[in-house]
Amino acid sequence: MSYTLPVDVDERPVAIDGAGTLGQRLAAVYSAGGTDVRIFDVSAHQGEVATEYAVRHADDVKRKLGLDAARLGNVEPAGDLEAAVRGAWMVIEAVPERLELKREVFGELDRLADADAILASNSSSLPTRLLIENVGHPERVLNAHYQQPPELNAVELMSCGQTDPGIIDALMDRLPRYGLVPFHVRRESDGFIFNRIWAAIKRESLMVVEEGVARAEDVDGMWDIWVRAGIAPFALMDRVGLDVVLNIEEHYAEVRPGIPVGPRKLLSEYIDQGRLGVKSGRGFYDHPS
Ligand SMILES: NC(=O)c1ccc[n+]([C@@H]2O[C@H](COP(=O)([O-])OP(=O)(O)OC[C@H]3O[C@@H](n4cnc5c(N)ncnc54)[C@H](O)[C@@H]3O)[C@@H](O)[C@H]2O)c1
Repeated sequence: MSYTLPVDVDERPVAIDGAGTLGQRLAAVYSAGGTDVRIFDVSAHQGEVATEYAVRHADDVKRKLGLDAARLGNVEPAGDLEAAVRGAWMVIEAVPERLELKREVFGELDRLADADAILASNSSSLPTRLLIENVGHPERVLNAHYQQPPELNAVELMSCGQTDPGIIDALMDRLPRYGLVPFHVRRESDGFIFNRIWAAIKRESLMVVEEGVARAEDVDGMWDIWVRAGIAPFALMDRVGLDVVLNIEEHYAEVRPGIPVGPRKLLSEYIDQGRLGVKSGRGFYDHPS
């Protein structure tokens, strides 16, 4: 049977395993949304620091994210991992980005957490497919990649390949109550959605500076204008016209070897259907006149 949130989810805590830069922020977010949080860190001192951080920031996070929880969740450090995860409906792994360490941690979490607990990795680059070799119940494991909440409040949910699809659905439904905006990564990807987009922006920014085309401050100045305008990539391509975008991409492909063909293939598929963007009434989006 497909996963559904436990009926007592509102009474059960979230556990955070690894309470550094990200773990402590997540503790504040879940507390702000009214859920109790238990923190475990191999460094007991860091566990205390993170608890203090979460308690100090939860109210501010609640305001920033516009949450309406009746109370802030209690945040407490746990003396060991077993005590941290006991009763938790979800365990968030946020230990350092080392494959062997995360594999070991997931084995422990699978052994210690309640049978119905979701086990979510906050890894930035390791798909959970690689982390489950010591896990008996991979159907409850997934990547849930946070950025830097509360300001950057997107979360990307990605299956380990065996994740119960009900878990993704349940988290898509549940996370907005914490002011988080979940996105479903629809197949395994080397790098999450936004990391990949950001990687392309960074790479090209560095290239234009390295080639002497622009100064760093020129790049940042143009970026500011772009962000202020607030036109997202696919909306902008529709405005430009997908046939024009394809011509531009073909030019780049001619002068710069190695550009993957996938983007041009996708554009051609839309163009072949007469979907040119705003000018034809349909592109990636519908544009009724
Ligand atoms: N920092 C970010 O902005 C960011 C953003 C998205 C994802 N992430 C990911 O989150 C994870 C954690 O990153 P971070 O920046 O918070 O790292 P960090 O180094 O600040 O914190 C990691 C914490 O884990 C603790 N730890 C180490 N081994 C442990 C173990 N076996 N059990 C429990 N705790 C343990 C450390 O004491 C430390 O406090 C990484 O996978 C990273 O890729 C980080």
